[in-house]
Amino acid sequence: MKISVQTVLNLLHNIISPISVDLVNHLQRTTLIAWYLSQRAGLDKAGMSNAFLAGMLHDIGSLEKDRERLAPGNEGFFDGHEKLAGSMTAGIRFLQPVTAILENHHTEWSDSGEKTLPLVHHMLHMADTFELFLRGVSGDYSARRERIIADFFAQSERWPASLEAALRGASQQDGFWFRLGNPTLSQVLNAISPLQDQMLDHHDFLEVCQLISKIVDKYSSFTRTHSASVSHVAAKLAELYGYDIDMQEKICIAGYLHDIGKLFTPLAILEKQGALEPDEYAMMKQHSYKTLVMLHPITELGDIVNWAANHHERLDGSGYPFRLGAASLDIPSRILAVADVFTAMTENRPYRQGMQSEMALKILREEAANYRLDRDIVTLLDHNIEIVKPLVAMC
Ligand SMILES: [Fe+2]
Ligand SMILES: [Fe+2]
Ligand SMILES: [Fe+2]
Repeated sequence: MKISVQTVLNLLHNIISPISVDLVNHLQRTTLIAWYLSQRAGLDKAGMSNAFLAGMLHDIGSLEKDRERLAPGNEGFFDGHEKLAGSMTAGIRFLQPVTAILENHHTEWSDSGEKTLPLVHHMLHMADTFELFLRGVSGDYSARRERIIADFFAQSERWPASLEAALRGASQQDGFWFRLGNPTLSQVLNAISPLQDQMLDHHDFLEVCQLISKIVDKYSSFTRTHSASVSHVAAKLAELYGYDIDMQEKICIAGYLHDIGKLFTPLAILEKQGALEPDEYAMMKQHSYKTLVMLHPITELGDIVNWAANHHERLDGSGYPFRLGAASLDIPSRILAVADVFTAMTENRPYRQGMQSEMALKILREEAANYRLDRDIVTLLDHNIEIVKPLVAMC
């Protein structure tokens, strides 16, 4: 499996979008501005890539459960979110070159002769500051460009001369302003991205899953814990089944991703105590379909998409969203389904205690006997319960 860094960033934005569409818009516009600055301020190829990468992610530390605080420019948006971005991206190898940029993207430039940060840090800071400044501007940007630029430099801090010249130069171009107002800016970024040729393999993508986990956690902690547990249980079942390490890791990825569609489910339904009303249940059931919609465009993920999205399908065709039957459900899909049910029954939720694994196994055996879950996979779990059990909620 090979997947471009740009595709991964698009997926991360799709995951952040249901939590805060405003934040995604800020990340995208900041990236565009940083790209213009990097073109004009003489950064080398690596510097341009890092500016783009850092722009796309720089404020992920600001994700909060309290949606009121998410809007860029709000008080609270800045409380330590730079450091949090650094800790959220720790351990992800391809992000290491930009960790320091994320952590310093609010550090002001000083021309006092003290040791300063590399130019790319200040570039991102300028792009970020200018994007937030533009939020206070109404009317057509391009018609007001001179006023905008004059006001920005009059009101903001001091900047390195090369960055000031770069922004003034970019502002001469109509396209700069048109692109900033483009409602489908992601398409523009895909076209200009220097990250389309930087490829990741599934080991790298497994690390990205850790970041996805942390983003999901900002919305729903138990969904994050559940997804991580399902990934561990599914990977162990894959190993016990005899799959090689590559397959185990791909099944592990499917486990991390299987419930990302829940980001579209309102928390009031996701964490409701007691039975769901028919309308609420219908909305809840949409989550695995939303997982499919989010992942389907990423052709690089291959079969992983279906393994993740099929976890509520059943062998007898009674599942959802497509009522697929045994003929359409391959072994990894069946592993995911068993791992999901076992984990869901045995883990604690905000509204109930998890059940004992013996009781969960009894239900799983009945599900297998009724030809809803795969008998062989359930037997595998049954025979190895002492190995698999501790994997639930271990993270
Ligand atoms: Fe920020
Ligand atoms: Fe920002
Ligand atoms: Fe699910």
